[in-house]
Amino acid sequence: MTRTKYNMWLQYRPISDTTQYEQLINEISVFGHTPAIEAAKQELHMALSQMLNQSVDVKENDFSGKIVIGTTKELENVLDAKQIQKLKASNDEGYLLSSSDHQLKVIGNSDRAVLYGVHHLIRLVQLEKDLRNLEMYQQPKNQFRMLNQWDNLDGSVERGYSGKSIFYKNGKIVQDKSRIKDYARYLSSVGINAISINNVNVWKEETYFITKKYLPEIKEIADIFRAYGVTLYLSINFASPMAIGGSSTADPLDHSVREWWKDKVTEIYEYIPDFGGFVVKADSEHRPGPFTYDRDHADGSNMLAEALAPFDGKVVWRCFVYNCLQDWRDRSTDRARAAFDHFKPLDGRFHENVILQIKNGPMDFQVREPVSPLIGAMPNTNQIIEFQVAQEYTGQQIDLCYLIPQWKQVLQFDTHIKGEGSSIEEIVAGNIHHYKYSGISAVSNIGDDENWTGNTLAQANLYGYGRLTWDPSLSAEEIAQEWIMQTFGNAEAIIETIEDMLLNSWGIYENYTAPLGVGWMVTPGVHYGPNIDGYEYSRWGTYHFADRYGIGVDRTKETGTGYTEQYEEPNQSTYNNLEHCPDELLLFFHHVPYKYTLKSGKTIIQHIYDTHFKGFDQVDGLIEKWDSLKHFIDEDRFKNVQDRLQRQKANAREWRDQINTYFYRKSGINDQHNRTIY
Ligand code: GCU
Repeated sequence: MTRTKYNMWLQYRPISDTTQYEQLINEISVFGHTPAIEAAKQELHMALSQMLNQSVDVKENDFSGKIVIGTTKELENVLDAKQIQKLKASNDEGYLLSSSDHQLKVIGNSDRAVLYGVHHLIRLVQLEKDLRNLEMYQQPKNQFRMLNQWDNLDGSVERGYSGKSIFYKNGKIVQDKSRIKDYARYLSSVGINAISINNVNVWKEETYFITKKYLPEIKEIADIFRAYGVTLYLSINFASPMAIGGSSTADPLDHSVREWWKDKVTEIYEYIPDFGGFVVKADSEHRPGPFTYDRDHADGSNMLAEALAPFDGKVVWRCFVYNCLQDWRDRSTDRARAAFDHFKPLDGRFHENVILQIKNGPMDFQVREPVSPLIGAMPNTNQIIEFQVAQEYTGQQIDLCYLIPQWKQVLQFDTHIKGEGSSIEEIVAGNIHHYKYSGISAVSNIGDDENWTGNTLAQANLYGYGRLTWDPSLSAEEIAQEWIMQTFGNAEAIIETIEDMLLNSWGIYENYTAPLGVGWMVTPGVHYGPNIDGYEYSRWGTYHFADRYGIGVDRTKETGTGYTEQYEEPNQSTYNNLEHCPDELLLFFHHVPYKYTLKSGKTIIQHIYDTHFKGFDQVDGLIEKWDSLKHFIDEDRFKNVQDRLQRQKANAREWRDQINTYFYRKSGINDQHNRTIY
């Protein structure tokens, strides 16, 4: 069997010209013995022997090797004063790559950092970069670089589009954990340092993960991840004291409940001494939480924080809290407002080991949303942003949708919270409010499909997520190129074609799906394929309000829900004012007639027709581009993408025709170009 699919971006393909490298890197000297150093050594050895196609020697504690790897502490004597000073000035995940004529040093401020440095070196070699006279200091911009698995014990993955879970099968934790180890390798190669391994919706049996029944095996998983610098977290059920502790209440202010959690946490740390903490979805989509007891989210999270604090554990408390039993007739409730309305008033009341995890937009990972106004709005509360690498609403890893440009746009958004320059990027890096803990989290997109991500090209989203959270200044183009070269090789045709496909894919997906920020219009439940009114008369608060005159949600302060007021100026006025609101978000903020003219010069209705015809044609373009690579890419991966593109085409056709027909029938307005509408 070829492992090409499985190996994602760690192919370790023999490089064409090895001359410069042979001199420099065919011998490794390792200092230190921790599991992470051991992992770094193994990875480097494997990578170099394969890429240079020759045997590579490994020595221990011997300065004569051509590559020397170890921590700053172990190797201070091989560093000069300037290097020591620069390393001391960077955080404990920072490292140095330094080369002279006869030696290359990879020195990190912790063993985790050594691993990151080694992976960066491997990347440079695979990309065939010049390693001479290297003096490179790297440290991650974000402290938290986390992934959330939405995996269930029965082996299913909520919103998983890549097969089944790699963690669980048929109600048990998997026995053979080699795939988990490989996952850890991939994560460390892009700098991910935290993971929660079970669904945020914690069902009956998963509630027992924090008991002796499962902790011995969860400890084994934690051991695997630890060796790759990844700290393990668990999602918990807020009602655990009742579900598994025999208590009659889960009231966070109840003394016995608090004691129960303290005992529970103590027990967990006996198994996993560096356990990260809990991820909590409470009072959200029918999950239990503090509201049942008339308590708020500060009460709920602080109770857990108190139990975790002695062990340096954290509570990652999700802000995806809204009324999911809304009456569609009720125009006064606006789901977009919910997170801000619930949490902003609580600023200052959370313990210092509570971190709020906030989805990037106010709704739910749509193809286009404004940035959540809650991010940065609580100066005294730790926050991390949540992205979704899994393509729930963005094509489910059937349709191509490279998400890095979307995330970059979010990170670059200037909230003006503390004046100009208060970008999301700086907020989540902890530079605006000086949070104790901050960073980025995301829902993972992997499963047990041989290629991990269903669509091979969806690997780019996982790769890019890691690279971007480490260094948000990388461009979407740079990340795409890095990924393509490591995954498929560096033939010009491959790089140019796939880069073009990736970079245009988000726009293409947006073109044939929900227009101008209005969102949804998807098949209820599964969230793939069009159903324009699928959620229109539902309880989920996700409406487009299309009638025969117009479409969109009025969120202005004068006549709408007042959501725009949650933004600082000048964003508030920009969004609130129809003339200033950017086209791509117009229907998120305003209800307008079909003949309203956009800044682009087109009417809303003509924009809908044009983008939908265009989006479908663009999918044909993607197919053509991919087909041109037939002789450059192995058959397995070629077919995988080819097949998905055909399915994307069928999907795009359905979207195009349903959307165009729906709005033609609603509005009665003809397409200026008289194309076929049904
Ligand atoms: C979305 C998704 C759910 C998930 C929820 C969450 O609504 O469809 O499956 O549970 O997000 O983030 O908690």
